[in-house]
Amino acid sequence: MQSPIYWHPFLYQSAIRFTYGKHYISRYKQLEKHIPKHADLLELCMGDCFFYLNFLRQKQINYKCADINEVFVKAAKQKQIEAFQLNIFTDDIPTCDYILLQGSLSYFIPHEKQIIQKLLVACRKQLIISENIHNLSNSRSPIKSWIGEKFSAPDFGQSKIKFTKETLTKTFSDFKSRIVCWEESPDNKEIIIVLNAN
Ligand SMILES: C[S@@+](CC[C@H](N)C(=O)[O-])C[C@H]1O[C@@H](n2cnc3c(N)ncnc32)[C@H](O)[C@@H]1O
Repeated sequence: MQSPIYWHPFLYQSAIRFTYGKHYISRYKQLEKHIPKHADLLELCMGDCFFYLNFLRQKQINYKCADINEVFVKAAKQKQIEAFQLNIFTDDIPTCDYILLQGSLSYFIPHEKQIIQKLLVACRKQLIISENIHNLSNSRSPIKSWIGEKFSAPDFGQSKIKFTKETLTKTFSDFKSRIVCWEESPDNKEIIIVLNAN
């Protein structure tokens, strides 16, 4: 059965708010700096579209987004956002200047390198990846640990393995020549990696 967190954007957003606590907003603020004004951007695995609605829309970007979860796609469309259903594993990725993947690379373990390569081929300028290196499933808080488990929704093929700083560094070592930015969040929970397409 699909994890309840993915049943509705509201449930998803509540879970994210609870797990990130006081870092919930700074998570987006740090990422927003990497998206240029008026950019042509495709966000993959966009979830509840919180980042676009609260941080990107005001930058007048040409935005579209995709997710495997049709509930999230439907909710985005209801907000007049150009959204479509897509499975990153099996579908072609539309070409775009910038591609963004936030908090979702671990879904593709152990094929994460192939996925990064696939996304690099689809973007004309930059691929921006933000990834969690804080494993909620191991949290001392039983509720956070439970939510961490629920993010590992088997229906979406997510691996229960999460990244650590070491494993993320190892993954990106194959793309070293493309990396123009490697930024760790002040709370050491996330890393933003910006890669040039060429
Ligand atoms: C942890 S959420 C991250 C959502 C949002 N980017 C954020 O950071 O709040 C992961 C998202 O990836 C989507 N997803 C999982 N597997 C996918 C796949 N194979 N193709 C496309 N989307 C996928 C899920 O539906 C979910 O919305």
